[in-house]
Amino acid sequence: MTYETITVEKRGGVAVLTINRPDKLNALNKQVHREGVDALDAMRRDEEVRVVVITGAGEKSFIAGADISEFAGQTPVTQRDLFHERTFFNSIDTFPKPVIAMVNGFCLGGGCELALACDIRVCSENARFSQPEINLGIMPGGGGTQRLTNLIGEGRAMELILTGDMIDAATAHKFGLVNHVHPAAELEAETMKLAEKIAEKAPIALQLCKEAVKFASRSSLDEGLRREVDLFAICFSTEDKQEGVSAFLEKRKPVFKGK
Ligand code: COA
Repeated sequence: MTYETITVEKRGGVAVLTINRPDKLNALNKQVHREGVDALDAMRRDEEVRVVVITGAGEKSFIAGADISEFAGQTPVTQRDLFHERTFFNSIDTFPKPVIAMVNGFCLGGGCELALACDIRVCSENARFSQPEINLGIMPGGGGTQRLTNLIGEGRAMELILTGDMIDAATAHKFGLVNHVHPAAELEAETMKLAEKIAEKAPIALQLCKEAVKFASRSSLDEGLRREVDLFAICFSTEDKQEGVSAFLEKRKPVFKGK
């Protein structure tokens, strides 16, 4: 499938998915959701892809939120249907391989929610974050009230969501909203370095790690600990576990195959 609102570029084991509507600051319209879901489905099946990096085209914006022009025609029923369908947010959340948000500017509303659905967030010093929905008389609907709260705590999430205030990269880092902040000129190289480091690991173990960590905020501690033991046991069925252990004992670098 060819895309109009996104691009996908494979660089070794890392696929870079770029939202490509720079004239609209990469706002998320229905087509971006559709194409994003489709691209992730294809990358889910593509064994060469070990890690996905999501970013926005241009230097100004990662994603400036949902496309506000589409809100005008939405009724409660159509809007609810849209977000109950497979959205870009849900597709990222359920994507089995690691996903890194490379945030290169405005990261607002649905853009912040999309970054929150990713596993790791890396941003440039000029990045700005907010959940400004309240200024439009609405509220976050792409997971913001839940994922932001899980990530940075209720007090901070509540203030950001109730005020719609924008915070800078340093504050986002202090809050734990982003893992790393880099000068804009170094963002891509540093993000790729991180992505490539993860892409070298055993793919099945990565997938199981991701599932276990995500389960932590969605279950009780007892359920989470039980799930972890089960997933840990599954690792022992893989060729990559044999390879990892043998490589350690033979004092060489492991070569993981995702089997
Ligand atoms: N939806 C639709 N279009 C958007 C958009 C959005 N979320 N954010 C920006 N755009 C469009 C603008 O309408 C403008 O299009 P135009 O040139 O056809 O008029 C273009 O992107 C550039 O944006 P502009 O507002 O001119 O840039 P700026 O530098 O003056 O301001 C922002 C940047 C991010 C502060 C401002 O665009 C903004 O507040 N955007 C909306 C953010 C928001 O509320 N997002 C949450 C939605 S729920």
